[in-house]
Amino acid sequence: MDRSVYSNVGKKEDTTGIAKRVAQISVSAIKQMPVLASKIEGCISLGQGIPSFGTPSFIRESIVAALKHDEFIGKYSLQPGIPELKLEIAKYLHRTNGINVDPERELFVSCGAMEALAGVISTVVDRGDEVLIPSPNYSSHIEQILFAEGNPVFVPLIEEEGWRLDVAGFRKALTPKTKAILLCNPVNPTGAVFREEDLRAMAEMALERNLFIISDEAYDFLLYDGLPHFSLASIPELKTLLITCKSFSKMYCMTGWRVGYMLTAARIVDQVLKVHDAFAICAPTISQYAALAALKATNGKDGDGDRFIRQLVEALSSRRDIICDRLDGLPHLFSFQRPKGAYYVFPKITHDNENDMDLALRLLHEARVITIPGSGFGPTGAGHIRLSFGAPEKDIHRAFDRIDEWAHLST
Ligand SMILES: Cc1ncc(COP(=O)(O)O)c(C=O)c1O
Repeated sequence: MDRSVYSNVGKKEDTTGIAKRVAQISVSAIKQMPVLASKIEGCISLGQGIPSFGTPSFIRESIVAALKHDEFIGKYSLQPGIPELKLEIAKYLHRTNGINVDPERELFVSCGAMEALAGVISTVVDRGDEVLIPSPNYSSHIEQILFAEGNPVFVPLIEEEGWRLDVAGFRKALTPKTKAILLCNPVNPTGAVFREEDLRAMAEMALERNLFIISDEAYDFLLYDGLPHFSLASIPELKTLLITCKSFSKMYCMTGWRVGYMLTAARIVDQVLKVHDAFAICAPTISQYAALAALKATNGKDGDGDRFIRQLVEALSSRRDIICDRLDGLPHLFSFQRPKGAYYVFPKITHDNENDMDLALRLLHEARVITIPGSGFGPTGAGHIRLSFGAPEKDIHRAFDRIDEWAHLST
């Protein structure tokens, strides 16, 4: 895999004495572009995937009250998480996807979905194991596999069919070394939502070949046009092979609170908890209480949480319309697949066969708009850039006004 894309963006590293498993991984381009941009005044960001909304007040207020009344709120929690929160998560899973999970044994609360993903990949992937991942795919998954000394094997998605899963392509990529399949749905960076029939076919393949499926569902609540979310966790036969990682970050605009969770068979939870104990001890206790307040307001009938999520999805849906309209106005620069979920669009560069890194750097320096080069998301990402529409509507318009002007001057 060509990893030079990272060194183009990052500073020169001195890896003397650094373990190979760390020396070979990188900070993703998603996080590096904002660092480069911090040296340029007045940039507008379509880069990092952070919604522009704050954590809702019903969550913040619950924490203010907890801080006042509970002097022990700053203590470690039980290592797998606060039992009441785990109960509420189980209720939520049942209510939204009909998933039955034993809160005591089959789930644990993590420091965001990210820690759960890193933990489970380190738990099931041995040196030299192959992990099949779609390309393009969330870049941190690639680093997590490399950190575990596994080999990411990229299976291209079918762009013309809305970045559809190529189930036959996955079958072809199987070898005796294949250990797991890693899927993210809805997808960062393309905004695709995989079809239920394709996911079921992937589940069948995993069952036939006894492969783990690691499913990153950080955006499970964020689908547009009334599209339902199909979670692999709703296939009971897959339970012993499936590890699902979910998050509070995006659903409640809580990215910095660092709380998410993993659900899987009890025997796998027990193993991942060893890694969680060694790296994190527990998820931040105060954030777990925030997550508990969030879910309690969601698991009731049309509570504050449900209303907040509904408004968030509506706002992001209209931002999606805006970004798609503005992209439609630039056919000489980009062609794109309309996103169905998450808040990303992944246009293909039609402008002079320009390289994605060069284009992202030119847009940064010449138009002062932050975008993310597509190569960081796997080989199929080359020749694309990722745009996030988490930014407010006026920022999306301002960014595109700048891109329009830049395109006018440079063509
Ligand atoms: C696909 C995907 N998975 C996981 C994460 C990280 O989630 P968390 O904040 O819960 O660690 C992100 C964050 O952008 C993401 O896009």
